[in-house]
Amino acid sequence: MFLQTKTKKDISKVEQLSEIIDAVSASRDIRELLEASLNKTLKALSSERGSIFMAGEDGEELSLKCANDNDLKLDQFRRKLGEGVVGKVAKERRSLLVKDIRQDRALTISNIYHDYRTTSFLCVPILAGMKLIGVINITENNTGKPYSEEDLKFLEMVAGSIGLQIEKSKLLCEVEKIKKKAETDGKFTELGKFSSGISHELNNPLDGVVRYVNLALNTIEEGPARGYLMEAKSGLIRIVNIVRSLLELSRRNKNLNPKMADVNKTMEHSIELAMNSVAHKTVDIKKNMCKDLPMIPDMGLESIFSNILKNAVDALGETGFIEVKTARNNGFIEISISDTGCGMSQEHINRIFEPFFTTKEMSKGVGLGLAICDDIVKRYNGRIQVSSQMDKGTAFVIQLPLKDNA
Ligand SMILES: Nc1ncnc2c1ncn2[C@@H]1O[C@H](COP(=O)(O)OP(=O)(O)OP(=O)(O)O)[C@@H](O)[C@H]1O
Ligand SMILES: [Mg+2]
Repeated sequence: MFLQTKTKKDISKVEQLSEIIDAVSASRDIRELLEASLNKTLKALSSERGSIFMAGEDGEELSLKCANDNDLKLDQFRRKLGEGVVGKVAKERRSLLVKDIRQDRALTISNIYHDYRTTSFLCVPILAGMKLIGVINITENNTGKPYSEEDLKFLEMVAGSIGLQIEKSKLLCEVEKIKKKAETDGKFTELGKFSSGISHELNNPLDGVVRYVNLALNTIEEGPARGYLMEAKSGLIRIVNIVRSLLELSRRNKNLNPKMADVNKTMEHSIELAMNSVAHKTVDIKKNMCKDLPMIPDMGLESIFSNILKNAVDALGETGFIEVKTARNNGFIEISISDTGCGMSQEHINRIFEPFFTTKEMSKGVGLGLAICDDIVKRYNGRIQVSSQMDKGTAFVIQLPLKDNA
């Protein structure tokens, strides 16, 4: 009779464990993974309270990422390695089963006792191999009994599966990033070869054709022939833009000895250029320039600024403004360009740095502007970030490290 009950109990534990592992592997992101595993583990161990801490990049500090306790502030509640029960378990990478906290001298002396409302708790490190991923805590067993060695084993298995899954998602994320980068780099190498080969050849004849089409348009009367010429001109403008972008790519690739540039002056010049290209619109530009910026090598600053400014102008409707800021921030020169234009959906944000991604009509955009910006910023070992909200506007922030560039 006893044996039968024991076996039933074991089977139900195995089922619960496999349910937790399924939930863990089906999760789409880490927060969902932590929440699903914590809730299911609390149920399986008939417990009321639990939390999961995750180790930071350097492994020296843990922060609370998931808890079913509203008193605890996620991300803000932290423990250093070795500090408190969580820090101790993390440091020693050893599980802790406390049956009665009042009997545990070490815990009572260090005053950890007051962190717990009941006398028994489990605390287990989440590991991937020996790498510390985090710590899981379970307490307030509502059976009224202390936790057992079996409960501890159960929690260790849950922690093991969480650790592996988190490591797996991190690795997959890295692989995705590398794949994307390889793809983009590959496209750029191809573009580089292509551009140096034919863009020079195309540039001069194209200039001539555009000039003759313009002359013809100045003399021709209204009528179908004028319509055809207008169409031809818009196609030509697109070709001119592509050739210009490709030329820019190939020239920059060769420039190994860049001159030093003044960021603010380059920005002023880029603003002028962007404004000249939209003579039909009056655009209000607010400037907030840092007076004390060092010179940096010019590896294509004007291209970055002009491309982003031109996009900002395109995004603006009848009203709105563009704000340009330069600043010195923690070893970086920080340049931000924001607009109150049409904004972008998340789907577009994810693709804007891809070569040839554009939402603009044929005569207006080629889809190379931001790919070029991204390429130049990478040469500076810098970063380019974008935030945008539909119908509210877009902000680009570029950070160029002074360490590598001043
Ligand atoms: N400030 C902005 N506001 C709204 N959308 C933007 C903004 N900046 C970029 N975009 C979106 O990103 C796309 C890609 O921009 P990118 O500058 O690379 O190419 P493009 O402007 O279309 O063409 P071009 O090669 O002439 O620059 C744009 O087509 C547009 O959809
Ligand atoms: Mg553009």
